Amino acid sequence: MLVTQQPVLRRFWYALMPLHALDSGPKPFTLLGEKLVVWKTPDGQTAALRDRCCHRTAQLSKGFVDDAGRIVCGYHGWTYDCSGRCVHIPQNPDMAIPAGARVESFRCAVRYGYVWVALEEPLAPIPEFVEEGAAGFRRIFQFHERWSTSPLRFMENAFDNSHFSFVHKANFGIFEQPKPSSYRIDVTEDGFEAETLVPIRNPVHGHRITGSTGEFTQRHLRNRWWLPFVRRFGCEYPESGIHHIIYNCATPIDDDHIMLAQWLYRNDQESDCSTQELIAWDRPIVDEDRDILEATDPDACVDTRRRVEFHMESDKPGLMMRKRLLELLHAHGEEEVFRPSAAKRIPLNPSPSQ
Ligand code: FES
Ligand code: CO
Repeated sequence: MLVTQQPVLRRFWYALMPLHALDSGPKPFTLLGEKLVVWKTPDGQTAALRDRCCHRTAQLSKGFVDDAGRIVCGYHGWTYDCSGRCVHIPQNPDMAIPAGARVESFRCAVRYGYVWVALEEPLAPIPEFVEEGAAGFRRIFQFHERWSTSPLRFMENAFDNSHFSFVHKANFGIFEQPKPSSYRIDVTEDGFEAETLVPIRNPVHGHRITGSTGEFTQRHLRNRWWLPFVRRFGCEYPESGIHHIIYNCATPIDDDHIMLAQWLYRNDQESDCSTQELIAWDRPIVDEDRDILEATDPDACVDTRRRVEFHMESDKPGLMMRKRLLELLHAHGEEEVFRPSAAKRIPLNPSPSQ
């Protein structure tokens, strides 16, 4: 599925960057192939416009925000309000602004400390992170970074219990025990919930994280997927009562890249386990996933008849995602668009003489 070619994907909210990234001025961001500028006004509002001045096409992200919270083009100073209307032309302050001198604007919101944008009328609200503001929980921004993969590959991997023993064998995966735990899956209106118990190997220095001092410990996972590309990794350690809850938004930049935002919520204190320790704990795990995923073909087809990929039982959550995404496309009158290289190729049978 080429995400930039599926208009219905424009009708969801995506996390772009932490709000504090706008402290130093407007920033560019490419969402589903659309070049945007986002900025913050002095009174804390945020705005997103197409990153093209309507005078001579300069990128507005190269400009600055004035005291009134308007964005000023860095080329000749044409100034736009948050709705994209040109409100000032410094060279001709007395001249009427030409009719239609405006730039397209997009919905922009702030949730969980991040700037979110929907390019068109959203089909669903921003997913609810229930730990946000909940008593006893702290929020840690772990990272936001650009990956060379597609959001579907990322989401499927997030629910794939078969990869731990291999991708994470140097970490928490149990190589000697490759048979994965299966999920109990409950379909929801906007995705699904998936619950399971997964044994992990305790890393040598990880006991403060898991609460266990033995070689293995259990993770109780209460995961969730929201259409199209948000997930909750609801990891609870029954032995210690620690909740290590991760949320990701795999924001599609273009057909081959995502901006991956990761939040962590914990029900312990900084004095129990420092922010730096927690970031350092998850970093190598994320890097292991990234190394493998960036080497897959990003053009995963949601219509499984389109290309030759074989499946196994533990691919079920991923196959459910593909089915829901295909249904979403069809419900909005779209067919899946994919690269010719992704199309199904029938494996050649060896000739009888070979
Ligand atoms: Fe923006 Fe001229 S290109 S003001
Ligand atoms: Co992984």
